[in-house]
Amino acid sequence: MSTNAYKYNKCLPLKSPMDILVPFYIFMAFRTNIISTIAVNGVSIPAYVPQDNIAIDCGSSGNNTAPDGRIWEGDLNSKFFPSQYQNNASVTYVTDPPPPQVSSVPYQTARVSHSEFNYVVPVTAPGQKVVRLHFFATPSYGDFNSSKAFFSVKAAQYTLLSNFSPVLAAYALDVDGVVKEFCLHLEEGKSVLNITFTPVSSISESFAFINGIEVVSIPANLYYSVGSQELRPKFVGQPDINYPIGNDTAMEMLYRINIGGADILPANDTGMFRSWGLEDDYLTVPGYSVLPVDPSDNLNFSVIPRYTAPSSVYQTARSMGNKDRALIKSYKLTWEFPVDTKFYYLVRLHFCEIESVVNTGERVFLIFLANQTAEKSADVMGWSNGERYTPVYRDYVVAMFGNNGGDQKRVNLSLALQANPDDWRTVYADAILNGVEIFKLNDTTGSLAGLNPDLVGTTPPPPVHQQATSQTITTAVVSGVTSGVALLSMVGLFICLPRRNLNNVHP
Ligand SMILES: *[C@@H]1O[C@H](CO)[C@@H](O)[C@H](O)[C@H]1NC(C)=O
Ligand SMILES: *[C@@H]1O[C@H](CO)[C@@H](O)[C@H](O)[C@H]1NC(C)=O
Repeated sequence: MSTNAYKYNKCLPLKSPMDILVPFYIFMAFRTNIISTIAVNGVSIPAYVPQDNIAIDCGSSGNNTAPDGRIWEGDLNSKFFPSQYQNNASVTYVTDPPPPQVSSVPYQTARVSHSEFNYVVPVTAPGQKVVRLHFFATPSYGDFNSSKAFFSVKAAQYTLLSNFSPVLAAYALDVDGVVKEFCLHLEEGKSVLNITFTPVSSISESFAFINGIEVVSIPANLYYSVGSQELRPKFVGQPDINYPIGNDTAMEMLYRINIGGADILPANDTGMFRSWGLEDDYLTVPGYSVLPVDPSDNLNFSVIPRYTAPSSVYQTARSMGNKDRALIKSYKLTWEFPVDTKFYYLVRLHFCEIESVVNTGERVFLIFLANQTAEKSADVMGWSNGERYTPVYRDYVVAMFGNNGGDQKRVNLSLALQANPDDWRTVYADAILNGVEIFKLNDTTGSLAGLNPDLVGTTPPPPVHQQATSQTITTAVVSGVTSGVALLSMVGLFICLPRRNLNNVHP
């Protein structure tokens, strides 16, 4: 398996500030990973079994099996897609032959409509859910030219996407399949989740499409602050203030990274079908850092639940290196993640002591988020009750409102680790990180979408190059770009030369 599979973005140099739009993608391709399962009577079951595990293959019928074995249910004549009102105006489309660059299930078929349509997803219990929307950015769906696909998506009372263009999102990232992942809480008493797709009204012949929808239960306390006080997010920049994630919060997952490790496919998650990606595109100051690995399966989930993240997240890490103290103290190990301004972000940092540190207080370091101090004395051994191989995490909420009231749409959220400058506080001048997750929190109007200037829809996407590649891409997870407008302005500024194999392109 080739790690080069990820490195295919052939964009020409970008002009500032648009370069910060270079977003996030994960390939869900060809990786084998340790599956986070536990063996029960010789049968391997995931650490978490979701009560609702719904995967809808839009535009098809019956049960369809994806390459990873997951079964997706077609929406034709199904309980998920009531045939009434405007839903009847939508049509289904089959890409024929099947697109080679993405998996046929759920990407070969789609539901397409010039008017609003609505999925009604029955759930067995209310509570916390992850919702994933899958889009195959083919240039056209029959007579529907995908450059006209601009639409919003609402789920329950939240606006998940607004003026969203899957094609532009895909072009910007040079991928074919786009996955948007959200978390929300379905209120007590609700037995269905409504998901509504609405083409934007300001563009003539605009339409909406969708290829696949997942609704999967997650543990109530996985990301929401329903459990212990101790694990509540710290509000960065506001000492001693927590920022609990309440049930009224909806979040968009932007980055989910296995630091120092490989990507992790949905089937190898702890039961919630999350994908974990590579850090490579975000590591801006690697310094003298090294990649400790401990593949032995001796993790001890005594502080956090086993379902929190796959074991392979904790078995790999990046630490600052074992060079001399002066060198280690000469830099901050830094990652940067492009985000929309004017939102709050939840940042989860995953840690596990897999190196030679054996005692509490031996490796005490500093953590900065958005250039503010998040931890003055991070001590993974202390957090894990003095036990090695014991995964822990810490949550932080960071406000990203841009500089000096400026009107930047995107900024970088930086994450920096610093070895302790005070030698007397620590045995090792070092720091460690095993994983990162970053979520955007909904604004006061219940929206997760970036703001929309009037430009939308005036620029067509760039031409597609029909260039064959030997690589087969299963699909890609894309996030970090929610605004069709941001994308449109990007398209105006740079040209991508995608290496893809779009057999179904009309030149
Ligand atoms: C939030 O939702 C969870 C799961 O539905 C529930 O257990 C918890 O009581 C709720 N919290 C509040 C404050 O309503
Ligand atoms: C933002 O972060 C990315 C890495 O994620 C980096 O390539 C880019 O240079 C950064 N932009 C700025 C303005 O610092």
